[in-house]
Amino acid sequence: MIHLNIRTLAAAGALALSVSVFAMGARPAGDEEGANKRIAPVARVELAAAAPAAAGSRSGEQLYKAICGACHEAGVAGAPKTGDKAAWAPRIAVGLDGLVKSATAGKNAMPPKGGSDANEVELTRAIVYITNKSGASFKEPAAK
Ligand code: HEC
Repeated sequence: MIHLNIRTLAAAGALALSVSVFAMGARPAGDEEGANKRIAPVARVELAAAAPAAAGSRSGEQLYKAICGACHEAGVAGAPKTGDKAAWAPRIAVGLDGLVKSATAGKNAMPPKGGSDANEVELTRAIVYITNKSGASFKEPAAK
C-alpha cells in the first residue's frame, strides 16, 4: 500500500515536472514569436521614417505608412479613418486642392502637413492615397 502510494506520487511528480519543463521551454519561444509580430509594424514604420527617399520622391503610400497612418489608420484624435467613406465624403466634396490647403495648414488636431516634412507633391500624393481608399477617385500629381 505504502509502496504503491510512493510510486503513484513519484509518477505524478514526474508528470508535473515534465509539464512544467515543457511550459518553461515553450514559453520563451512563443513570447518571442508574439513579440516579433507585435514589433514588426512599428519596426517597419520606423524604417520608413528613418530612411526616407530623396525629398519629393516619397509615394503617397510611403508617406502614409510613415506618418499619416499613425492617426488616420485607427482614427486617432478624431481623425477620419482611412476607408471610412461616410467620414470622408464631405471632405472629398471640397476637392483635392481644398484638402491640400487644409492639410498643409493643419486643422484642429491635425498638425500642419500631418507633422511631416513632406513637400506639396508628397503631401498631395498621401491625400490622394487616403481619399481614394475612402471613396474618392483623385488623380496623383505628377512628380515635380
Ligand atoms: C496627429 C494625428 C494626425 C496625423 C499624423 C495626420 N492627420 Fe490628417 N487629420 C487628423 C485629424 C484629427 C483630422 C480631422 C481634422 C478636423 O476636421 O477636425 C485630419 C484631417 C485630415 C484631412 C481632411 C482635412 C479637411 O479639410 O477636412 C486630410 C486630407 C488629412 N488629414 C490628411 C493627412 C495626411 C496626408 C497626413 C500625413 C502626411 C495626415 N493627415 C496625418 C489627424 C492627423
